[in-house]
Amino acid sequence: MNGGRVFVLHIALQGCLRATDVEYGITADTGGHIRYLLDLVAASGRNPAIDRMEIVTRAFHHVAYAECYAEPVETIDGTTRIVRLLSASDAYLVKEELWTEHDSLVEALVAHIATLDRAPDVMHAHYADAGLIAARVSARTGIPYVFTAHSLGRVKLAAFDRDCAETAGLDRRIAIEEEAIAGAAAIIASSRDEAEVQYADYAAYDPGRIRVFAPGSDLKQFANCATDAHVDALINRFLDDPDKPVILAIARPVTKKNLAALVHAYGRSPALQAAANLVILAGTRDDSTTLEPEIRDNIAELLQLIDRYDLYGKVAYPKQHRPDDIAAVYAHARTRRGVFVNPALNEPFGLTLLEAAASGLPVVATDSGGPNDIVETCGNGILVDPRSPSAITDAILGILDDPALWSRYSAAGSVAIRAYDWDRHVQLYVGLLEEVVRPPEVVERDPALLLVSDIDGTLIGCAQGVDAFAAWRAAQTDVAFAIATGRSFHSAMAVLGQHDAPRPEILITSVGSEIYYRAVQGAVYDRDTEWDGIIAAGWDRDAVAALVGRYAGLTPQSPLEQRRFKLSYFADGDMAAAERVRALLAEHGHSCSIIQSHGRYLDILPHAASKGTAVEHVRRRLGLEPRQVIVAGDSGNDIEMLRSSRHAIIVGNYSDGLGSRADLAHGYVAIGHHARGVIEGVAYFREAAKFEPVRRRVS
Ligand code: GLC
Ligand code: MG
Repeated sequence: MNGGRVFVLHIALQGCLRATDVEYGITADTGGHIRYLLDLVAASGRNPAIDRMEIVTRAFHHVAYAECYAEPVETIDGTTRIVRLLSASDAYLVKEELWTEHDSLVEALVAHIATLDRAPDVMHAHYADAGLIAARVSARTGIPYVFTAHSLGRVKLAAFDRDCAETAGLDRRIAIEEEAIAGAAAIIASSRDEAEVQYADYAAYDPGRIRVFAPGSDLKQFANCATDAHVDALINRFLDDPDKPVILAIARPVTKKNLAALVHAYGRSPALQAAANLVILAGTRDDSTTLEPEIRDNIAELLQLIDRYDLYGKVAYPKQHRPDDIAAVYAHARTRRGVFVNPALNEPFGLTLLEAAASGLPVVATDSGGPNDIVETCGNGILVDPRSPSAITDAILGILDDPALWSRYSAAGSVAIRAYDWDRHVQLYVGLLEEVVRPPEVVERDPALLLVSDIDGTLIGCAQGVDAFAAWRAAQTDVAFAIATGRSFHSAMAVLGQHDAPRPEILITSVGSEIYYRAVQGAVYDRDTEWDGIIAAGWDRDAVAALVGRYAGLTPQSPLEQRRFKLSYFADGDMAAAERVRALLAEHGHSCSIIQSHGRYLDILPHAASKGTAVEHVRRRLGLEPRQVIVAGDSGNDIEMLRSSRHAIIVGNYSDGLGSRADLAHGYVAIGHHARGVIEGVAYFREAAKFEPVRRRVS
């Protein structure tokens, strides 16, 4: 590092990479990852923490492609240049063939680094093959690397039948990815789904090393767009009453996008048909019988459903549109106070939802995959089970019938533009790189005090409160700071990052069913597998899920909320649900921890798991006395933890009756709300001498 600044060497080997006028689509591999990389590099250049960058790619000659792809160096600006290394072959190679160049590329990169006046502080590998090169070069040079997969072979494999042609080579790609994952100092993912589901089946999967940083997205064009006569005509010629609100879907007509479910929902609901028209932009076509089979069959199914439900005059399905019509299509729907629907069976990221958000169009989106992050971050709509047409209908009607809700979701678009921003991304990214390059010392290995705080409604809830907490926490050098939350590890880390909350040393996540410790190396977290073993005893997840699934009245939360040791449901307003579920499970011989909170959530955990038991486990592992622990919470899922701790802070904005419970009478009910209540409570326990910090042990 140069005066604390970072030199990043990116490795990206696929496609035709150049600094300007990228020829997207010129080859199958000249796609989104190049856009991501160039946007990341541009934003990194604007951040003072990064003072130098190189993008290393492969040089090739090809009569059909420009000569620039053979140029050894292309300067972007004073900070950044592209370096094209010669490997064994100088031909253009598709990504499936890049493995033939692994050895020569490793040698070329090691040699290149040796020629530099200053060694890179960190490498950032993009996509599988670059990850493997980084792993091998890192082993030779000692330079750490971070990895961004962009897309994963295992996800592809799951999307196709095992034997079809497209899976050829995927096994090799997955093996390459395993090597890339195993050696990475940290992995950057774009969504919780990627971090928690898409990576999960890799042998080298280590959740504590993955961080979710939302990518930037060029959304301004959507925010400022109006509909135009061309787009209005494209849509209106199908419709009897073109002024009605529009239910809009934009997706390629492949089975995974599940557009048929939306037509079923619409076709079965007279209320929906009365309230709105349905507009489906499913790619473009001339003669649909000549399309590739999956697309042809999906188009045929849509047309057949429109006919079966006799939806003529109510559904528009334009054959053709231009790419630059899309923004106006969103605007067309927004002008009519419509709703955007993405019913995909799984949506890895969900760019259309961001575009809809930026356009000011509320969304109803699949609860499987990336939309979780988008809807949580932006607050622009409702998640639904894509397999349930009635859930889709209810959600759409709920928005169309409630003008205030529509307006709230519509206004949330501005949040999307701020959150999915490259400069914001780079702020978080730089924090990670600095920790990888210069691991911070984790000072609180032997703390005088352990402070455990819930996140939602406790630490987070007021922006000034979080800022005050961050400043306060920095001064508490004898305190280890832990989080105990209902959120998953990646959801917790992401929300803490978004709110600029201090990084915890310990995370107790998924309502106490998982525990992570910040590694001595600082950037990453280690999972407490001992805790997994303790709580696994007697937990029969499948049997419990099956029993509760048959029990009417509980709606499962999204697939992402279902963890190995946590099954989560909505039990809206049904305050007796916990008791009934407990009785049902007991009847079948299952003893579980059942936790209800905010009058809304119901979590089922192994018997031994709760925030309270997890805090106790952490306390013992840290070798602390019970009097050295302070916990803070606001709602039902904190009760266990507040009850079992001597020093319990109940923040002023508590819910679920916490302030008046007899079993929490020992707690301190703060006047301050959220993080301010936590600061106030710690001061109370320190000053009231109810808490005596023991002196730090001298080791
Ligand atoms: C968080 C989790 C959810 C859980 C709730 C209450 O919101 O995401 O799954 O039910 O906390 O514990
Ligand atoms: Mg809470």
